[in-house]
Amino acid sequence: MAKILIKDGLLVDTEWARHQDLLIDGSKIVRIASCIDETDLDEVTVINAEGLCVLPGLIDAHTHYHLVSRGTVTADSFAEASRLAAFAGVTTVVDFADDDKVSLSASFEKRRAQMRPMGIDYALHMGVYAFREDIVDELEEVKRRGIGAIKIFTTYRNVGYLIEKRDELKAVFDACRRLGLLVCVHCEDNDVIEGIGKDWKGTYMPKDHPDLRPARAEAEAIRQVGSIAKELDMPVYIVHLSSRSGLEEVRRLRNEGVHLIVETTPHYLFLSRKKLEGEDGPLYVMTPPLRDKDDNEALQEAVVNGEIQVVATDHCSFTRAQKLESNDVRTIYPGIPGTEEMLPLMHTFGLTQGHLSLSQIVNLLSTGPAKIFGLYPKKGSLQEGGDADVVLFDPDWSWTIEGGKMHSAAGYSCYDGMTVTGKVVMTLLRGRIVMGDGIYLGLEGDGQFVKSQR
Ligand code: URP
Ligand code: ZN
Ligand code: ZN
Repeated sequence: MAKILIKDGLLVDTEWARHQDLLIDGSKIVRIASCIDETDLDEVTVINAEGLCVLPGLIDAHTHYHLVSRGTVTADSFAEASRLAAFAGVTTVVDFADDDKVSLSASFEKRRAQMRPMGIDYALHMGVYAFREDIVDELEEVKRRGIGAIKIFTTYRNVGYLIEKRDELKAVFDACRRLGLLVCVHCEDNDVIEGIGKDWKGTYMPKDHPDLRPARAEAEAIRQVGSIAKELDMPVYIVHLSSRSGLEEVRRLRNEGVHLIVETTPHYLFLSRKKLEGEDGPLYVMTPPLRDKDDNEALQEAVVNGEIQVVATDHCSFTRAQKLESNDVRTIYPGIPGTEEMLPLMHTFGLTQGHLSLSQIVNLLSTGPAKIFGLYPKKGSLQEGGDADVVLFDPDWSWTIEGGKMHSAAGYSCYDGMTVTGKVVMTLLRGRIVMGDGIYLGLEGDGQFVKSQR
């Protein structure tokens, strides 16, 4: 592969942002310097990045692409998802392998094989939905194959995702502690939710969802997994934190010395339950549900002050038609699209509204998740020797989000009509341009599985 020289852009890392040139040879970044002269190089393609930011490829650390669930499949197949990710500046996603409750290795290999059409790189979290006596051996085997983190649910007993007994859950945590696997948890306490459901006299419309799955269920689940983490003196990663109450529980546990790593999503930062009130309320149903403006503000403050380490999307897209099949939250398919909107939303909040620097955004969307999930330094930074996953981003491009013009097969965006600042204009994956000038150039099957080095 020929060399690519990206000239005169503003290179952004977590520690610095400076005008420099970046040279790619094959799949790797080979040089970063103040002025690299192309006349000294043979066969080099020069990309003029004047006026643009040059960022490390983003990592969406929480996606559900092509998820077969609840008798249907999500809207974005692996090929479509890779395309929208390239438009998002996302060069690596961390998706999930569901536990078939028989063999973690077989479940992992099945998902890995399904993901072969990916056009961008990917890692996997391993779902663990049932305890078994030989769980340590099973986890050790999937770790050897490249898993760095497992995913546990504290809810969804009805769909068989919940490990109900505390001693079994603790045994799974302990096995992960011994193996150095990170435990990621979807926190909503099943007993709180079932208790509310039993006494519920109201309707089951989208507007009711936040009351059927309230913030106190999130806080209670965080309290419980935090107590296990404390007893075992191990870290726990909370996925998609959605509420002030949950955040307060995180703070309480951290004050007791518990090591919690916290992720939130753009929808919990910028959307509230008001979205659930209209006729198209089903479009905004996901779990945990959207909450109040006060919760948005609490989470925004936590992102700004560093209490939240990762912003990822929980991209789990259904088409408008799929979402509107039902107006009952017990049967509406849960999940929304989000990967493509992630960077413009964070950039608008960060730079346009003045809350975060570009370095902080890079840390939340790239370097942070790369380090936490064992993908760094191959992924998540602009440094010599790292993969040439590079994003050219125009920070001044103001545009209005229109779901129909975006690249998810969902056909809508939860941010439709919102004006944002900043647009990805080019994405390179391992030295190959996968999106440029609004054209997708990725290749089906060119994405590689990235083994976690945790
Ligand atoms: O509603 C959501 N978030 N669907 C995706 C699966 C999950 O719970 O993370
Ligand atoms: Zn979840
Ligand atoms: Zn999820």
